[in-house]
Amino acid sequence: MTESPLTHPSAPTTPPPASATHPAAPVAFPQDRTCPYHPPAAYDPLRTARPLARVTLFDGRPAWLVTGHAAARALLADPRLSADRTHPRFPVPTARFDAVRRRRVALLGVDDPEHRTQRRMLVPRFTLQRATALRPDIQRVVDERLDAMIAQGPPADLVAAFALPVPSMVICALLGVPYADHEFFEEQSRRLLRGPTAEDTTAARDRLEEYLGALIDGKRDGPRGDGVLDDLVHEQLREGALDREELVALAVILLVAGHETTANMISLGTFTLLRHPERLAELRRDPGLVPAAVEELMRMLSIADGLLRLATEDIEVDGTVIRAGEGVLFATSVINRDDTVYPGPDTLDFHRPARHHVAFGFGIHQCLGQNLARAELEIALRTLFERLPGLRLAAPAEEIPFKPGDTIQGMLELPVTW
Ligand code: HEM
Repeated sequence: MTESPLTHPSAPTTPPPASATHPAAPVAFPQDRTCPYHPPAAYDPLRTARPLARVTLFDGRPAWLVTGHAAARALLADPRLSADRTHPRFPVPTARFDAVRRRRVALLGVDDPEHRTQRRMLVPRFTLQRATALRPDIQRVVDERLDAMIAQGPPADLVAAFALPVPSMVICALLGVPYADHEFFEEQSRRLLRGPTAEDTTAARDRLEEYLGALIDGKRDGPRGDGVLDDLVHEQLREGALDREELVALAVILLVAGHETTANMISLGTFTLLRHPERLAELRRDPGLVPAAVEELMRMLSIADGLLRLATEDIEVDGTVIRAGEGVLFATSVINRDDTVYPGPDTLDFHRPARHHVAFGFGIHQCLGQNLARAELEIALRTLFERLPGLRLAAPAEEIPFKPGDTIQGMLELPVTW
C-alpha cells in the first residue's frame, strides 16, 4: 500500500442502483482510498452488491464483505460471529495483523461471556454523563493547543499541532498515563497500526506492553491516582477480578484506541470541511449544527473501514449462506453509504438523520469511547473554526498525503494557514 499522495476527485462516480448480485470477480480488500473522504473507487462494484459481496484478502483467502446497512447491524449483533482473532481461520487483512493476532487483545478480541465481564468494568467510566463532565477539561486542552499553534504559526501541520495532541492529552488524563511519555506511546501506536513490517508491529506491541505493565506495577505499589487505570488496579487487580496480563491488554487498547482514532477524525474532518466551503459556512452561521455535523462526518468518513469477524455457525443472509469457518468483514464506508438508508449518500448533509451509522461499530463491541469521541470532536472542530475564521489549506489538496487503506483512515499531515 502506498502512502504517496493520491488523486482526490471531488466526488465519487455514482454507482448503478443496488441489487443483490455479487460482482463477477472478487475485489481485493482492503484498498487505498482515492479521495480521503470517499470509499476507495475500487469498491464501487461492491456498492451494487448489497448486502454481501465476495472479496479476496492479502493472503489470497476469500471472505464475505458486508455492504448493506440492515445486514451489517443484524450481523454485528449476531453471537454466531466471533471476534476471537486467535482462531486459525480468522480473516487476516494484512501481514501486520497476522503478526500480532495471537496476542491477547482485550474487549475487541474476545467474545461473551469474557467480553461482558471486561466491558462491565469499564462502562461506568465511559458514560455520556462522564463524557459531559469532561467537557470543560477537553475545552481547556483544545484552547491550550490552539494558543500554542497560533503563537508559532502560521503555517502549521494541524496533525502534529492539534489533531494528535488533543485526544492524546485527554486520554492520558482520563486513564492516568503521563502525557510526558506521549512521543513514545504515539510512536508505538503508529507502528502497531501501520508499521513498515510485521516485526516492527510485534516490537511496538512488546514495547507498549512493557511500558503499560511498568506503569500498572507502579500504581499497584504506590499511592492511588485518579485515572481509570488506577481504579482498575485498586478495584479489580488487587481484588483478583483481573490478572496483570489482562489489565495490560486493556490498557493497550484503551490508550491506542483512545487517541489514534479521534486524531484521525479531527484531521480528516477538518480537511473535509475545508473542501466543502458551503457546509463550513453553514456551520459557522449556526454552531448549533455542530453535533449533527460530527455525526454526518462520522458517517461519511467511516475511518475504521474494515471490521473483522469469523462465522462460527452457518448464517443465512437474504438467501445467501455464510458457512461456519468463513471470514466476515464489514466495510463501514460502503455500509454507511447504503442509499436505501441515506439518500444521496455521497453528499455531506448536516440535516439528514445520520445517527444510525456504523462508524462506531454496532452490537457488543460498539465503541466504548464514543461519548468521549463525540465530545472531543464537537469541541475541537467548533473551537478550531471559531478561533481561526480564515483557516485554509496551505498546500494543494491533491498533494496532501493521507493514510493507506489498510489502517485507520486519516491525514498523514495537514498543512494549514490562517
Ligand atoms: C472518532 C473516534 C473513534 C472511532 C471512529 C472509533 C471506532 C470504533 C469502532 C468501529 C469500534 C468497533 C470495532 C469492531 O466492532 O470490530 C470501536 C471499538 C472500541 N473503541 Fe472506539 N472509536 C473511536 C474512539 C474511541 C475512543 C476515544 C476510545 C477511548 C477509550 C475508544 C475505545 C474503544 C474500545 C475500547 C473499543 C472496543 C469495544 C469492545 O470491544 O467492547 N474508541 N471503536
